[in-house]
Amino acid sequence: MITKHEFGTLESESRKIYNYTMKNRGGMSVTVTEFGGAIVEIRVPDKFGRDTDVVGGYDSLRDYVLADGYLGALVGRVANRIAGGTFTLDGETHRLFRNNGKNSLHGGKVGWSHRVWAVKPEDGEEPKLTLTLHSPDGDEGYPGNMDVTVTYELLSNNALSIRYEATTDKRTPVNLTNHTYFNLGGYASGSIRDHVLQIEADTYLPTDADLIPTGEIRSVAGTPFDFREPKTIGRDMDADNADLKTAGGYDQCFNFTGGATKAPERRIIVYEPNSGRVLTVFTDQPCVQFYSGNFLDSAEFPMKGGLPRRKQTAFCLETQAMPDSVNHPNFTNTILNPNETYTHTVIYRFSVQQ
Ligand code: BGC
Repeated sequence: MITKHEFGTLESESRKIYNYTMKNRGGMSVTVTEFGGAIVEIRVPDKFGRDTDVVGGYDSLRDYVLADGYLGALVGRVANRIAGGTFTLDGETHRLFRNNGKNSLHGGKVGWSHRVWAVKPEDGEEPKLTLTLHSPDGDEGYPGNMDVTVTYELLSNNALSIRYEATTDKRTPVNLTNHTYFNLGGYASGSIRDHVLQIEADTYLPTDADLIPTGEIRSVAGTPFDFREPKTIGRDMDADNADLKTAGGYDQCFNFTGGATKAPERRIIVYEPNSGRVLTVFTDQPCVQFYSGNFLDSAEFPMKGGLPRRKQTAFCLETQAMPDSVNHPNFTNTILNPNETYTHTVIYRFSVQQ
């Protein structure tokens, strides 16, 4: 089932913004807003059958427009940071808006997280929302006209599938992701330290003081970044480690063992003991940026229900290719050619463990 409701008025465009809620028979619902294509709510049962909202977000459209943090948003044209806000492609240097110190973050000044997406609902047993956006040639300094389609589908087995597709008429980088902040105990349940996390990644990307990858691809073995066996997020988060210290916690790219796959594979499992909720992530992408919400603190923008925004009370699992690939020849290829289609699938499946 899909229902549509007014969220607010976007003053800058004098238009109403709508939210869409998809529900399935498994007791799960997902609400998506036209603004930034953001996921504003996911309700899913715990081991006692009680449903709770497990994602961070705001009550008002205004906060989605003004606040930082990219809560729930679709991020593009290129997720994460581009060093110096610049890259050279086919001999031409492109300059992007520097919205993160001297770097460009998550698409620039008005990235796709801050654009209004056209939403087409398709009701059924497995309700679906198809979101589209046109990004003009030169948008935020990126070359080429891009057309993007993102499909959110709520499956019967309490999984949310997100499928991205994009085409271009000039060579351009593209690296899309979704920036949902999860707390499986419920978004208002406090610290994420006790969540048990497993990531099938044998390497990660160390970063410099600006959180830009240095170019090294380092083994996780013997480091706090080894999540190949399940461990709590909190166990090693305060370890004496340069990358953790720089980021104030986890905020690194983890490279899945074996790299990208043709079809989505199970790569991440998260378990929260109090609720018994389990989140299993399947993707075809080569990497995930695991971000433990270190910069989530905000006095200005409380979350839903007036809950103070506090650091490390939610985490993001942003599937993608390697950040700043445009400036690292040894990283993944993120350049899309005019005759190709960028595709990316991620499935967030919820279940419970007694
Ligand atoms: C990045 C963080 C950044 C945050 C912004 C994450 O994807 O990894 O470094 O601060 O987005 O909300």
